[in-house]
Amino acid sequence: MTNLIYKGIFFTSQFHSVETLSYVENEFQLLDDDIVGVTYLKSGTHWMQEILGLIRHDGDPSWIQSLPVWERSPWIETIFGLKQALKYPPPRLLASHLPFHLFPKSFLHSKAKVICTVRNPKDVLVSFYYFSKCFEVYKDPGTMEEFMERFLSGKLPFCSWFDHVKGWMEMKDRPNVFFIAYEELQQDLRGSVERICRFLGKELNSRQIDSVVDNASFQKMKDKKMSNFSLVPESTFDHKKGTFMRKGISGDWKNHLTVAQSEHFDRVYQEKMQGVNVPFPWD
Ligand code: A3P
Repeated sequence: MTNLIYKGIFFTSQFHSVETLSYVENEFQLLDDDIVGVTYLKSGTHWMQEILGLIRHDGDPSWIQSLPVWERSPWIETIFGLKQALKYPPPRLLASHLPFHLFPKSFLHSKAKVICTVRNPKDVLVSFYYFSKCFEVYKDPGTMEEFMERFLSGKLPFCSWFDHVKGWMEMKDRPNVFFIAYEELQQDLRGSVERICRFLGKELNSRQIDSVVDNASFQKMKDKKMSNFSLVPESTFDHKKGTFMRKGISGDWKNHLTVAQSEHFDRVYQEKMQGVNVPFPWD
């Protein structure tokens, strides 16, 4: 599934290299007007990038409909994304799945704004499992049981979910870091967009916010080729095996984990999240 290890963390050599990861960590300069969407995989990365793109353009969907998401918001840690980021005219919209300890060190001295989107890890697990079935680079994920063990022990790309979330949680009191949950976006997308706008210092009128909400809906994104992964070639994503915009719901894990698996997950979760005294919507 992964064939590159950088500082003990798994990556794929098709998209990453030690040189790129090291450059991003140590030399990449974040700019004060950068906005970076940070996520663990399958936590709502593309959804947030859609929202941020719409907010940037005052709710006008033309921009998000004219470029694929990976060009609108390059993933800085990928070979392709770094090149895009370096030639991106500021202000930049960027994306990253990196855990905090591999994130650009320049962040600590910049006013770049980071929006961390987190999601119930059981739903992340299920989404990741089905994504892996289609994403050729990740190969066959095996059974849900096997995949869950790899998820819980952090033997999947981009470190363990637990380390990712705990590392970023330590940054939560910085004025340029904003946390939001996938579940909050789902429960109240309009209110969430308003909160994101306040964090970004962006004023949108009611009609513009309506347009952000409307254009970032699951159905609209599913139908848009610049947002729904259909432009990803078959050699990378097997569209016959599934779709990127799979279900877009919370709690789907209940349809995929047995009671015993869920209880085992809960035990590992309690143990690994000890000391994190922030309530999450799924707690
Ligand atoms: P599911 O597989 O549970 O459907 P990421 O962008 O981090 O890879 O996350 C992908 C997950 O976000 C998928 O979850 C996808 O369906 C969901 N998603 C993408 N856009 C969404 C939207 N507008 N509303 C709700 N969920 C969305």
